[in-house]
Amino acid sequence: MDWGMKNRLSKIIRPQDGRCLMLAVDHGYFLGPTERLENAAKTIAPLLPYADSLMLTRGILRNCVPAERDIPIVLRVSGGTSIVGEDLSKETITTSIEEAIKLNVSCLALSIFVGSKYEHQTLASLGKLVDEGEKYGIPVLAVTAVGKEMGRDARYLGLACRVAAELGAHVVKTYYCDNFEKVVEACPVPLVVAGGKKLPEMDALKLAHDAVTHGASGVDMGRNIWQSDYPVAMVKAVKAIVHGKADVKEAYDVFLREREKAKTKEPQKIVKAISRSADFD
Ligand code: 5RP
Repeated sequence: MDWGMKNRLSKIIRPQDGRCLMLAVDHGYFLGPTERLENAAKTIAPLLPYADSLMLTRGILRNCVPAERDIPIVLRVSGGTSIVGEDLSKETITTSIEEAIKLNVSCLALSIFVGSKYEHQTLASLGKLVDEGEKYGIPVLAVTAVGKEMGRDARYLGLACRVAAELGAHVVKTYYCDNFEKVVEACPVPLVVAGGKKLPEMDALKLAHDAVTHGASGVDMGRNIWQSDYPVAMVKAVKAIVHGKADVKEAYDVFLREREKAKTKEPQKIVKAISRSADFD
């Protein structure tokens, strides 16, 4: 592996512990203004200090993340479909490698839809993207997107992850499932796990913990962080699992402690807001 590729990968998967906390905020690329991500800049800003990297599209990067912030970027470069369109699997590459280089990204991300109508198109795109990434030393994260009709079991996810790795993906994102070790065992590159739909905080922390204890290198988590009523408390709790070796109870204690801190800050915020508005009266 060349120096640039190694260097960029080390910004995504921390060499200190081989773990990764990627904050996913790319949902709008097919869902539009997802709940709590309507104002992406506002949602992202308080979470930035706690994430290792940020996964998003160029539109949200350019408009909602200050260029001065030192946060490694995982740029989603696939899309072209929407939740109200014909078929979500009909994705293609929507952002060029030149644009990714201009944006100084650390990794490229693209979804593959194994078993779907457009399987071939998305897998061919992955191969092409890996070729481009290899030319410039930029790693590729393959997102194993699961259609409604597919089961999220170890057999299917194991197949999708292995295909992604065979085509050259440097990191693969998938879902946690029973017998996850089998998915890990058959995938020769690091796996990160998506959070999926919003769960109660304790359940989301258990998912993150199960994933890393069964071989995932970390998480690429979105909704279970920023759809929490206490997103900063939640990202700190997830970080305690991913990088701090916390068990689920310890991580939940982090969440509760941080939630209390956030609650005590809220009345101060209201007082400040009232006094500020008084200035304008
Ligand atoms: C959508 C994605 C999301 O980034 C991914 O699903 C992670 O987010 P969440 O934890 O909310 O599931 O790739 O295709």
